[in-house]
Amino acid sequence: MSFLAATGMTGGYGGADIITDCELRVERGEIAVVVGPNGAGKSTAMKAVFGMLNLREGSVVFDGTDITGLAPQERVRVGMGFVPQNRNVFVSLSVEENLEMGAFIRDDDISQSKEQVFELFPILAEKRNQPAGELSGGQRQQVAVGRALMTQPRLLMLDEPTAGVSPIVMDELFDRIVEIAKTGIAILMVEQNARQALEIADHGFVLVQGTNRFTDTGEALLANEEVRRSFLGG
Ligand SMILES: Nc1ncnc2c1ncn2[C@@H]1O[C@H](COP(=O)(O)OP(=O)(O)OP(=O)(O)O)[C@@H](O)[C@H]1O
Ligand SMILES: [Mg+2]
Repeated sequence: MSFLAATGMTGGYGGADIITDCELRVERGEIAVVVGPNGAGKSTAMKAVFGMLNLREGSVVFDGTDITGLAPQERVRVGMGFVPQNRNVFVSLSVEENLEMGAFIRDDDISQSKEQVFELFPILAEKRNQPAGELSGGQRQQVAVGRALMTQPRLLMLDEPTAGVSPIVMDELFDRIVEIAKTGIAILMVEQNARQALEIADHGFVLVQGTNRFTDTGEALLANEEVRRSFLGG
């Protein structure tokens, strides 16, 4: 049984189903990447794993426990962290306040977690008192990832963490994500930069029209002719 096993996920936003029999899995310390065309349902599948979507069918099992019925804030308590695709920082709050907001469920000392985030992303330590809205796109994404780490998740879910950043910043963010995975945290990540993301992925899922089209190791997907032609630009 996988550390996270989301299987048979079927549901949408009240109208037609957006995802159908969708499956996502990830192991501790591994990186799983979800790719696919715009509108394929990647974000919807992530929301379903995090409990933001009412599934008509399917289940989410996390560390051996069926959590399908849990609300998002309860999933945070059992060890899930989620960085959504949009509006993932509080722009008027400082970097440090964003991190503190991230720790909202904790009533113990969070200073060590904060220091860990500052070690991972040194620029955030420098800018700790600056409003997040004044940061560059890449720095904001660091704040968003750091905020999610403040609850000490065992599974970190990232929806397009490199959206709108330069290739150099993307590489740096991917390096940090690899570092996070090496600490034993499971990473489930949606990425538009499919080729680069699959290069750091242990496993990849290609979603098309709300359902799994290809599932394999990152390496095998990168080598698959059809995947390359249809989803990786040749
Ligand atoms: N809140 C919502 N209410 C109704 N429909 C929605 C909602 N969010 C997304 N959809 C629809 O669900 C489908 C899948 O959207 P989703 O955002 O999951 O795709 P995606 O693969 O993440 O796309 P992108 O690559 O553009 O981020 C789209 O047709 C979209 O219009
Ligand atoms: Mg999306």
